[in-house]
Amino acid sequence: MKTLQDSTFKQLRDFIYEKCGIYISDSKKYLIENRLVKRLQEKKLNSYEDYLYLLLYGNSTDELSKLYDAVTTNETFFFRESQQLDVFVDHIVPELMKKHSTKDIAIWSAACSTGEEPYTIAMMLLEKGYSLKKEIIASDISDSTLESAKKAVYNSYSIRNVPMQYLKKYFKPNGQSYELSPVIKGMVKFMNINLIDERKVKLITSRDVVFCRNVLIYFDDRAKKKAVSLLYDCLKPGGYLIIGLSESLHNITRAFKPVVINKVVVYQRV
Ligand SMILES: C[S@@+](CC[C@H](N)C(=O)[O-])C[C@H]1O[C@@H](n2cnc3c(N)ncnc32)[C@H](O)[C@@H]1O
Repeated sequence: MKTLQDSTFKQLRDFIYEKCGIYISDSKKYLIENRLVKRLQEKKLNSYEDYLYLLLYGNSTDELSKLYDAVTTNETFFFRESQQLDVFVDHIVPELMKKHSTKDIAIWSAACSTGEEPYTIAMMLLEKGYSLKKEIIASDISDSTLESAKKAVYNSYSIRNVPMQYLKKYFKPNGQSYELSPVIKGMVKFMNINLIDERKVKLITSRDVVFCRNVLIYFDDRAKKKAVSLLYDCLKPGGYLIIGLSESLHNITRAFKPVVINKVVVYQRV
């Protein structure tokens, strides 16, 4: 059994934080120990010190990608926090379409994990009769989640909140799994984007709505500020940022106007 020394933990923690904004507190040392042990095994390394050395001097983007897969929490499911999604399709989308006199709006699901969020958005838009010309952009830092997202085959946990009418129309049961309809798959384009990597985030421009739900909770305030300011620049004036229901931008930025619609707070770029 390999042990993670406190000083090595701190160096690993700092490395992870600088690369992707995820801050791992002292009390979560066990998490790093458990999640990285597989990396040590796979790379046939004898200690966490050797793994840190590999990260610092190994010059391997592949190992960085594996590190992101290991340290991220990818919990998600279809129709998560659906109050926000209702506000999005019933209020925000019609408002933006009317304002810009267009049927097309540009959407980005940043930190989409295995795809349930952007696919839910796509299904809801289609059900309301909206057919977007542009694909919904969906991104995450974790390559393994993006691979599953592209496959779009889900288990019963992921689909547990899907209303029956959607389940019948957009999913094909296959053994224990549910395959998403190609029509919905075709509405979403996946990319790898690290939310604190300015160069990557700048690839996404002129968005009407950005969903960034349940990811900033893993960042500290400094990283949150950086990510939110980059997201601000991706939005059109008047566009909306939607963060998780339990999250807030209080003390993070004053650049957005909080707007309350049906008891849901969304943030508008002014
Ligand atoms: C808990 S999931 C949230 C998924 C979805 N937005 C939802 O609310 O259900 C958080 C996701 O954030 C991603 N993530 C963590 N740090 C990130 C970063 N710096 N850039 C982009 N994505 C990141 C993780 O890989 C993970 O898939």
